[in-house]
Amino acid sequence: TAPAPGELLEIALVVAREAADTARVMRVEGVSGVTTKSTRTDVVTAADRAVERQVLAALREARPQDTVLGEEYGDSGGPDRSAVPGAVRWIVDPIDGTVNYLYGLPQYAVSLAAEVDGVVVAGVVRNAATGDEWTATRGGGAYRAGRRLRCSTETDLGQALVATGFGYDSARRVHQARVLAQLIPQIRDIRRFGAAALDLCLAAEGAVDAYYEKGLAAWDLAAGGLIAAEAGLRVAGLAGAAAGPDLVIAAPPTLFEPLHDLLAGLDASGGP
Ligand code: IPD
Repeated sequence: TAPAPGELLEIALVVAREAADTARVMRVEGVSGVTTKSTRTDVVTAADRAVERQVLAALREARPQDTVLGEEYGDSGGPDRSAVPGAVRWIVDPIDGTVNYLYGLPQYAVSLAAEVDGVVVAGVVRNAATGDEWTATRGGGAYRAGRRLRCSTETDLGQALVATGFGYDSARRVHQARVLAQLIPQIRDIRRFGAAALDLCLAAEGAVDAYYEKGLAAWDLAAGGLIAAEAGLRVAGLAGAAAGPDLVIAAPPTLFEPLHDLLAGLDASGGP
């Protein structure tokens, strides 16, 4: 039988806190082992790898039967068990906001989520620089420091502060910049903080009204997406599709439709 979401969240919290400590301490000691991945601006550091290895080891110890999907090491924990009822898969981004980490900007996070039968049921995002921490369990609400989170109640898209992010591929960035150029005159303003998981948490607490981005990976979205949804945001893609790599829109019910329609009209999910 599947473990309760609260039980998985307890494990996630312990693991994410230790992982965030490692990331912070390694930053103080100095960023090392910087290499690039998909493009020359898509960086990875020794800390990304070390933190993910630590998370993998901690999860293996706590729940040896589970599988894990991570940004740096892909799938681990044995063969795919997604068809096994009650199987748990963890999804980890060891450092979301790696460029901020590189520059010492205090906006990088450990993101850890637990999926049961392919549905995210528990998630934690911890800002490793500040110690701020957001959590959620499916159906149990989203919290920060014991306070239940509620998203913005803004009703006017023209007054909305909207967060977004950009991929690392230059052709994709050209498309994303075109979308943004059309969007920005129609909203209050845009914010680009540099860590998708934190963007979703900021939307969860109403620090921004909404968030959208094309090109997110599962590890960027899993924990933050649940936190945002549990705070009342609608988290989805275009035309009834689930949120995913094509597009993630996280918006309060009052803003979802106008933002969705605008982004659809601008072909925000299209391009490279
Ligand atoms: C990136 C950040 C960024 C977002 C990118 C992500 P990483 O993750 O979340 O804000 O715009 O799409 O790839 O590379 O820092 O883990």
